[in-house]
Amino acid sequence: MLSLNLNPFPTLSTGRLLLRQITTADVNKIFELRSNKAVMEFINRPLAETTADALQLIKIIIDNINISEGITWAISIQNDSTLIGTIGFWKIDTENHRAEIGYLLHPNHQQKGIMQEALSAVLNYGFTQMQLHSVEANINPANEASRKLLEKNKFIQEGYFKENFYYKGSFLDSAIYSLLTTVQ
Ligand SMILES: CC(C)(COP(=O)(O)OP(=O)(O)OC[C@H]1O[C@@H](n2cnc3c(N)ncnc32)[C@H](O)[C@@H]1OP(=O)(O)O)[C@@H](O)C(=O)NCCC(=O)NCCS
Repeated sequence: MLSLNLNPFPTLSTGRLLLRQITTADVNKIFELRSNKAVMEFINRPLAETTADALQLIKIIIDNINISEGITWAISIQNDSTLIGTIGFWKIDTENHRAEIGYLLHPNHQQKGIMQEALSAVLNYGFTQMQLHSVEANINPANEASRKLLEKNKFIQEGYFKENFYYKGSFLDSAIYSLLTTVQ
């Protein structure tokens, strides 16, 4: 069984980015992301309507870290602490050394290789420090940007579920991607 220790919070640094802990001070930026229709198009979760919704999300993120069920980093540019996106593992399955990855980036910063840089650092942390054996991604098959990002990082589509997810009156398909530590 995997034993996780996320305390102290593991800040990660890359060439352009600082991946740091999310705090309640990020509430306005989390609200901007989670209320943005373009960002949320394929997330299939309700849009944040108020900053109170964003605060609630931050509380869940912090609680998940405290009970080692998930870890989410704020993505910021080096020397500017402004949150521009988030990336993290959730549904950490300690018995099977597996976790699901999720990520969001503000449109002003998309298509500049930012998530590629963040994902490399987070996968490296997941496989080497957290000792994960596999990482899963569950995407809406229409999410071309996310699919490209995963395939670029050697994720393989291992499953495809037809109409398994009911959201806002429709049954949606899910594509399940996975990356094994041995492929790294
Ligand atoms: C998915 C997402 C995180 C990608 O972030 P990004 O920083 O723009 O991606 P990158 O610039 O690192 O690009 C990585 C690869 O994906 C491709 N890509 C990125 N955006 C794309 C788009 N809109 N359409 C097609 N391909 C895209 C890039 O071309 C790149 O591959 P390449 O270098 O071989 O050309 C971003 O589009 C996003 O936040 N989307 C909304 C939230 C979301 O859907 N999250 C995923 C939920 S499963």
